Amino acid sequence: MNTRMMMKTVVAALMATGVMHAQADTALLNEARVQAKQLAQQLQHTLKRSMQADGPVAAISVCNTEAPQIAAGLSEGDWQVGRTALKIRNPANTANDWEVSVMQSFSEQLSAGADPKTLEASKQEGGRFYYMKAITTGPVCLACHGENIAPPLAEKLDQLYPQDQARGFRQGQLRGAFTLIKTLK
Ligand code: HEC
Repeated sequence: MNTRMMMKTVVAALMATGVMHAQADTALLNEARVQAKQLAQQLQHTLKRSMQADGPVAAISVCNTEAPQIAAGLSEGDWQVGRTALKIRNPANTANDWEVSVMQSFSEQLSAGADPKTLEASKQEGGRFYYMKAITTGPVCLACHGENIAPPLAEKLDQLYPQDQARGFRQGQLRGAFTLIKTLK
C-alpha cells in the first residue's frame, strides 16, 4: 500500500467511527429531548390545573409534592430526570459543577439574544449520558418566582423553603434547567 492509499484508509476509518459516534449521540440526544419534553408538559399541565382550580397558594403545595413525584415517575428504566437551577428553591435540586457551568453558559447565551429553545447541552462520561435543557421564566412563573410575590404566597414559601433563592426573576430570564442522566449499558 502506498502512503496515499494508507492515508485514505486511515481517513475512512476515522470517518466511520466519527459517524458511528454521531449516530449514537443523535439517538441518545433525541431520547433525552423526548424525556425532557414529557417532564415539561406534565409539570406545566399540573401547574396550570392547580392554579386554575385552587389558586397559587394551593398550587405551591402541588409543586412541593407533585414536582418531585412527577420527576420520580418519569425516572424509570435507564433515565433519571429532574430540574436544577443556579438559584434554587428546593435544596434537593442543587446543581453540580457541570450543571452550574452549563447554566452559566445558557444564561450568557440568553443575554446575548439566543433563542431559549436552542439552549441544550450533553456529554458522555463514565458509562453515562448527560443532557440539560434551559428553562426560562414565563409570565405564569412570576407569581411564585418573580419580584413581587403576593404576601400569602411569600409566607407559604417561607414556611416550606426557608432558604429559598428562587425569587426576584424577570420574564425571559433563565430560571433553571432540566437535567437528565441515562446509564448506558
Ligand atoms: C404556584 C407557585 C409556582 C409557580 C407558579 C411556579 N413555580 Fe417553580 N417552583 C415552585 C415550588 C414550590 C418549587 C419547589 C418544588 C420542588 O420541591 O421541587 C419550584 C421549583 C422550581 C424549579 C426547580 C429548581 C428549584 O429552584 O428548586 C424550577 C426550574 C422551576 N420551579 C421553574 C418554574 C417555571 C419555569 C415556572 C413557570 C412555568 C414555575 N416554576 C412556576 C413554585 C412555583
